[in-house]
Amino acid sequence: MKQYKVKITSSGATFTVNEGETVLTAALRQGVMLPYSCKNGTCGSCKGHLESGDVHYPFHPPLALTRAEIAAGAALLCQAEPTEDLVIQAREIAAIRDIQVRKMPVRVIDKTLLANDVMRLKLKLPAAQRLQFLAGQYLEILLPDGKRRAFSIASPPQMEDEIELHVRHVEGGDFTGWVFDELELRNILRIEAPLGTFFVRHDSPDRPMIFMGGGTGFAPLKSMLEDLLSHQDKRPLHLFWGVRSQSELYLYETARQWAEQHEHIRFSTALSEPADGDNDDTFHGFVHQAVLQQYPDLSGFDIYMSGPPAMIDASRAAFIEHNADRQRIFFDSFEFGLDVPVRVLAKPH
Ligand code: FES
Repeated sequence: MKQYKVKITSSGATFTVNEGETVLTAALRQGVMLPYSCKNGTCGSCKGHLESGDVHYPFHPPLALTRAEIAAGAALLCQAEPTEDLVIQAREIAAIRDIQVRKMPVRVIDKTLLANDVMRLKLKLPAAQRLQFLAGQYLEILLPDGKRRAFSIASPPQMEDEIELHVRHVEGGDFTGWVFDELELRNILRIEAPLGTFFVRHDSPDRPMIFMGGGTGFAPLKSMLEDLLSHQDKRPLHLFWGVRSQSELYLYETARQWAEQHEHIRFSTALSEPADGDNDDTFHGFVHQAVLQQYPDLSGFDIYMSGPPAMIDASRAAFIEHNADRQRIFFDSFEFGLDVPVRVLAKPH
């Protein structure tokens, strides 16, 4: 079998890619932790730059790259297969390299409807087992038919033996329908965790942070924020939560209390399709517009966002136009598919 060598310029890390394997898969297989989220070519989290060598995209064109980016040497590493040895620029994620991804059974110990279409699940780990993860990461539920469903972990890592998930009911989604209608307390699920590279960076502690979530994109931000609080991290942090109408702000009181009890935290909401009687004082429009209304100049901010791909894509472009540093925008993009993995077999809940 043909093999290609890949070198990462910043760290000097090297690994080999088998013929027919993507650069990302090979890197992860050999412990080189590159950023990724969707793994299907739509989110752009895995973007790298080719210093030398070439790649091809056997399945479909790299959706998250423009022609201009390709011409400038960009590559989507979750889709790209080498056609020769490569030297690439890519950000290596050191913080999660040592965290072991594990499969384990978990027991459902709580199932609570938080809003019409959002269910909170609490899962109990096996006795004496702990799940090590970074706040912001996600897990996959492994189904008997071999399919997987991805959900962000909403609880902080300090909660040692329990995991909280926020499951949005998807019309036509068999799995979420099953969770809402049939899953019972004490049922056992199998999970694989932790996954993903969405977590708070601590390399620039002077930068204020913007957290922006759409719908159940609130979940990983909740984990991250509770983790920061437990570490007494006092960086200024403004949480924006965008939903269609007020009734979808399923943990509004929790978020409001974070802001009320901590001087360094602010909390704002945005309603894109406000219902009759919704609060007129809250921003009406898309959540990224609410961010820009308050922060027209985003230089100096670290931005963390979680939500569906369309939201992430529009926000990212708009934020860069408003001086956000593209290297300091971190995101987790997820899709609510119709009975397809929640994380589109293409995007960084
Ligand atoms: Fe590659 Fe999302 S585009 S991980």
